[in-house]
Amino acid sequence: METTELLRKYNIAAPRYTSYPTVPYWNNQHFNEGQWKSRLLSAYAQHREEGISLYIHLPFCESLCTYCGCNTRITKNHGVELPYIEALLQEWKMYVALLGEQPKIKEIHLGGGTPTFFSATNLQQLLQSIAGAAQFDTEAACSFEGHPDNTTAEHLQTLYSLGFKRLSLGIQDFDPKVQYMINRYQTPAQVKHITELARKMGYQSINYDLIYGLPGQNMEGLTRTIDEVIGLKPDRIAFYSYAHVPWIKAGQRHFTEADIPQGNEKFALYQKGREMLVAAGYEEIGMDHFALPTDSLFIAYQQNKLHRNFMGYTDQHTQILLGLGVSSISDCGTAFAQNAKTVEEYKQYIKDGVLAVQKGHLLDAEDLSIRRHILSLMCQNSTCFETEVPAQVMQRLQPMIEDRLVAIRNREVKILPLGRSFLRNTCMAFDDRLWQQQPQTQLFSAAI
Ligand SMILES: C[S@@+](CC[C@H](N)C(=O)[O-])C[C@H]1O[C@@H](n2cnc3c(N)ncnc32)[C@H](O)[C@@H]1O
Repeated sequence: METTELLRKYNIAAPRYTSYPTVPYWNNQHFNEGQWKSRLLSAYAQHREEGISLYIHLPFCESLCTYCGCNTRITKNHGVELPYIEALLQEWKMYVALLGEQPKIKEIHLGGGTPTFFSATNLQQLLQSIAGAAQFDTEAACSFEGHPDNTTAEHLQTLYSLGFKRLSLGIQDFDPKVQYMINRYQTPAQVKHITELARKMGYQSINYDLIYGLPGQNMEGLTRTIDEVIGLKPDRIAFYSYAHVPWIKAGQRHFTEADIPQGNEKFALYQKGREMLVAAGYEEIGMDHFALPTDSLFIAYQQNKLHRNFMGYTDQHTQILLGLGVSSISDCGTAFAQNAKTVEEYKQYIKDGVLAVQKGHLLDAEDLSIRRHILSLMCQNSTCFETEVPAQVMQRLQPMIEDRLVAIRNREVKILPLGRSFLRNTCMAFDDRLWQQQPQTQLFSAAI
């Protein structure tokens, strides 16, 4: 079938499946802080030996990148740093008290916003205080997101000496016209400088975030961007599909739909980028991700140890992920909890001495089984049933089987090479909650 026809059929609104159930389908009315604590405690009793992962959300940015879909707070006032850190440490203290001991930390990720908005000294204070109330695994995987425009040698050195060996730089696109449209500027020279500094210091894995489908993007500009990126040889690349959700993110109204490549044009950008990265020696991993064969993400993929969580793909997996900070999501395997979404609300919860969890979901047995299948499809391109593939999943997959996106052999559902670009659609066939309650309004960005 021709690409145009495939896109006509499958380029529909679809979740990214960083969780199952997806956030709009959480059962919030059955959720409260007490239930979250009790599910977390029973998960911890079972899994304390393996340790926990921590995600810390640092929402501040100095200026608005208009494409951005993340939870951010734009300010040039750096006076916000210390009060926010105080709230994070208070929240951490509450979790440590709840767990009844200093937990072992296996993984820390600083995300944003812009973590490098914070001074190196303040980040050091935050991390030393967190580590002071924990057992720090010497092999812990610690990473942070940096904006090339404000990541300094001091940030790199301070975080490296605290155990951070992985850096993720948000680049999105080098084309000056696109940078102007999205109000986000960084030059290849800046990125080269930070990459080289980080390598010299000993950082083991450097990731670049890129996006296809941005306003003003075209084939020529994208080709130049990917050429520059290949020349700098990051270990990993996230090549995201631009998620256009202006009904949630007003910043995306700074440009119009006419500025955004869509359908065939957008898909061709992905195909071109993918082709160039593969030719340069990168391996395609799951959805939207590429890594050099030497990188731990690819090794985990090969060994079937890849995991996907709210931050995307990771080679670490602990049953418990605690999210600290505004809008962060925690996961204890059988429940999700999301913190309040504004800095003021978040701080108020913490001041009142309660966890800032505002919504969440308690997974039932069916959710757990579907979650396992979706994770397996996202991370290994296949999933296996213990008994027959359920009739309703089979029926939903039928058009994809006919279009050679998916194959079923015995009890295994396998993504075929052509189907890799439509992975979100295949996962949707398993998403019972979405089928039971079809959305009345658009909730998700387009699949491609
Ligand atoms: C929170 S951002 C981190 C950026 C980093 N703090 C910086 O400023 O460089 C994480 C990544 O999500 C991706 N992202 C954000 N908004 C997006 C959107 N609307 N569509 C697709 N990807 C998006 C970008 O690639 C971005 O680098």
